[in-house]
Amino acid sequence: MTGNGNRQIVTIADPAALATAAAERVMNRIAANSGRVAICLTGGSSPKQLYQLLATDAYRSRIPWERVHWFIGDERFVPAGDPLNNMAMARATFLDRCAPAANIHPIPTATADPADPDRSAALYEQELRSFYGTDTLGQARPLFDLVLMGVGPDGHTASLFPGYPAVEETARWVVGVPKANVEPFVPRVTLTLPTLASCREMLFEIAGPGKRTILKRALAGENLPANRARSIGETIWLVDRAALPEDFRGQ
Ligand code: 6PG
Repeated sequence: MTGNGNRQIVTIADPAALATAAAERVMNRIAANSGRVAICLTGGSSPKQLYQLLATDAYRSRIPWERVHWFIGDERFVPAGDPLNNMAMARATFLDRCAPAANIHPIPTATADPADPDRSAALYEQELRSFYGTDTLGQARPLFDLVLMGVGPDGHTASLFPGYPAVEETARWVVGVPKANVEPFVPRVTLTLPTLASCREMLFEIAGPGKRTILKRALAGENLPANRARSIGETIWLVDRAALPEDFRGQ
């Protein structure tokens, strides 16, 4: 394990071991909070194995489902049942079989106007504020226990794309993104950096040779949204060997 500011890079053998390590971190975060737990999920393909694991008896039986709430860090304007819908993927993989419906908090894109992603963002911001209980995120009381994240090929995370104004947003908790920088090129809604930062732990999953180029840029300290996403608590990047650039092997 190597440290970088308040970020730790943890190298793991392969995607299966990475999913297990992530699942154990989910369990630890749940165990650390005896009250209402809030977990912010991510989309993309990286968390799928983790979500599958959480649905297995070994994990499912250990999760106090009644007191865990599930949010999503960003959403795409595709129909609610479309597999490209981030929350739909999480629902189909584990939430619908395990979590009470009232504890699943999707970003409302299905009935919203795709030409107005800010409207959908405002609704989700309202939901987050009311869950949190006040309008100002305090350092001593993070919004989320755990925020899961991934890194895209351009260095985006959630739907915070390089050079987009959403990355600089500090007042709003959630914003609309009229057009994505990568596929699917649909409008998005994303939590902003300060909102994502309001957590006890931010956990990235980064696996496969396809991530090597962007990981090299990120680890070199480039100004990328993924590098700017930091928790007020712990920030951990779980990286599998195939994703690790040559120069960083052996660290
Ligand atoms: C999204 C995601 C996005 C994702 C990265 C990594 O809605 O697109 O939330 O930020 O985490 O693009 O995606 P993969 O896991 O598919 O590589």
